[in-house]
Amino acid sequence: MRNFSHKTGPATHITDETQYHNRRKFLKTLGLGTIAAAGMFTVGKHIRNASAAPDAPSATEAAAILRPGIDLAGHPKLAGLYPANRNMLYRLPADAKLTEAVIAGSYNNFYEFTTDKDRVWRLAQQFEPDPWTIEVTGQCNRPGKFDIDAIHTMPGVQLEERHYRFRCVEAWTMDVPWTGFELNQLLKQVDPKPDAKYVRFITANKPEQMPGIKNQPWYPWPYFEALRIDEAMNPLAMMVTGIYGKPLPRQHGAPFRLIVPWKYGYKSPKSIVKIELVRERPKTFWETLAPDEYPFLSNVDPTVPHPRWSQASERVIGTGERRPTLPYNGYAQYVAHLYQ
Ligand code: MTE
Repeated sequence: MRNFSHKTGPATHITDETQYHNRRKFLKTLGLGTIAAAGMFTVGKHIRNASAAPDAPSATEAAAILRPGIDLAGHPKLAGLYPANRNMLYRLPADAKLTEAVIAGSYNNFYEFTTDKDRVWRLAQQFEPDPWTIEVTGQCNRPGKFDIDAIHTMPGVQLEERHYRFRCVEAWTMDVPWTGFELNQLLKQVDPKPDAKYVRFITANKPEQMPGIKNQPWYPWPYFEALRIDEAMNPLAMMVTGIYGKPLPRQHGAPFRLIVPWKYGYKSPKSIVKIELVRERPKTFWETLAPDEYPFLSNVDPTVPHPRWSQASERVIGTGERRPTLPYNGYAQYVAHLYQ
């Protein structure tokens, strides 16, 4: 199989070697030494990727990259829902172009499969996102378990397409047409109690289908994230079921993921199985591992550098264009008031 790479990691943001080795030492003391060799903690391998000539996927590979996790033929109730109508309120800047589907689908962060972005889609092919249920529970009056059909068709849920900017903490970004509905539409179904101050998301833990879970036992699986309730109720926060007009491919987090476009990408958990409304602020996956690097709020902010690289600019995947990072990733008008 050919190895192709369309995007480059945060190679240009690398701090000096000494800092990198200090980081390794620190992680070793936590028993996390090997994490330093992978993913969000490292950048070395991306330097190599950056210099490798991109190689287009074959037609077979492209079909696998784009393959929806849910087969609509098995869900007659959903057949008419994709592609969903576009909500024109949420547009990209006039000069922005959507990232190509095959590019967005072949450079992924999904550590349950691997920390190697270029290989996630391949390893995810064996993942089975159907049947699936999401349990919504905790501080609410009508907790419930909802399957794929129920979530798509529950009263008050309106599937639509929105074009959002999506910014990873690693300083790459893409412009993507997500399909889904406002998270608040699902939360309203369970009638949150006044005590529900935070919303916690727990994702799939299937080591037999997710080799990264088996191979990297030092991570605190399953992946978990959380938002404040006012963030979760904001109309921008989207429960995502699809991308590029079709149900989500596995590597993007089929069948259900979150997209919180004003925060760094790790605040958008994939393949969610449980949503809990809770009183106290929960810890998150990355905050547990490195609280100084991945704090709870993690709003996109060009003025606050990551401890190991600048966040002042970002690289558009696919084109390599560098552009200035915008406060709240360009969504200040919708969310800045939440933080005053
Ligand atoms: N969700 C789970 N379950 N596991 C992960 O490793 N990675 C996060 C987020 N959600 C992650 C996750 C990070 S760091 C990013 S940048 C985005 O997913 C990447 O989403 P994409 O691969 O669909 O672009």
